[in-house]
Amino acid sequence: MKVMYSVADTQTYLQNLRVKSDMKIGFVPTMGALHDGHISLVKQSVEDNDFTVVSIFVNPRQFNDKSDFDNYPIDHEKDLEMLNKAGCDLVFSPSGNNIFENFDGFKMDFNGLDEIYEGEFRPGHFQGVVDIVYRLFEIVQPHKAYFGQKDFQQLAVIRLMTKTANFDIEIISCPIVRENSGLAMSSRNLRLSKEQFQSAANISKLLNYIAINLKVGDDTDSYSQYFIDEIEKISDMKAEYCVFCNTVSLDLIKKITKNSEIIVCVAVWCGKIRLIDNIILVF
Ligand code: PAJ
Repeated sequence: MKVMYSVADTQTYLQNLRVKSDMKIGFVPTMGALHDGHISLVKQSVEDNDFTVVSIFVNPRQFNDKSDFDNYPIDHEKDLEMLNKAGCDLVFSPSGNNIFENFDGFKMDFNGLDEIYEGEFRPGHFQGVVDIVYRLFEIVQPHKAYFGQKDFQQLAVIRLMTKTANFDIEIISCPIVRENSGLAMSSRNLRLSKEQFQSAANISKLLNYIAINLKVGDDTDSYSQYFIDEIEKISDMKAEYCVFCNTVSLDLIKKITKNSEIIVCVAVWCGKIRLIDNIILVF
């Protein structure tokens, strides 16, 4: 497994693979502090492509909360070990802001996606994600790029950016990988205390409760309130939102109709750690 830090070296190396060897390149962008969720994306890419590139890049552009950035976990050595084991071929780990040289940001119409749900509570976050992934796509120029359903709204934003920027890249969505307790894996889980880690399992338990009980004809508001109230009862936890949306448009769904596919998206504070999760339901 190669590890590259320079933009120019990475571009030249991948250009050669693409043109001279006609290799299909898969790409998994990450912010490091890797867990089995990230690794599932890497394994999918290894299975689908001839060559897999993983980027490790944490940049303040996408952090609306400075202390979240300052406390973001880093373990470069362990990341490299996990990636090597998973069959990754090249790790691109640029430092500082050198991927943004002569780059003013990618301006696009978000169709309101940056103002709802995560966008409402994390102003500027999606513009930062778009800027980073746009530059990574330009540098790596993969055939396929892999993203987790865990960050469902990010996936929608990336699909829109890929279309707007005319990148010839297939965006692949991968299922959420969970702890045994049901808690969605996240790099931020490393910052939870033992008690918080246990309490946080209630997020997926409540999503499963909704999945079992919600039926055609039901109003979603009462379920949303139920989720918020139940989280509120747990010490140190507070729900920021619980929304029921159309999986394609992300429009809010108020009443469940026949033959519909919806996604329930939630954001919950566990002490000072903000966690997100979701579940897709088909009726
Ligand atoms: P990061 O949080 O490191 O996540 C990298 C990728 O792993 C994302 O596509 C995310 O959805 C996926 N992922 C995270 N947890 C997962 C889980 N439990 N199961 C399956 N997939 C999971 O998302 C980012 O980084 C950044 O915003 C990035 C796209 C790299 C741009 O900087």
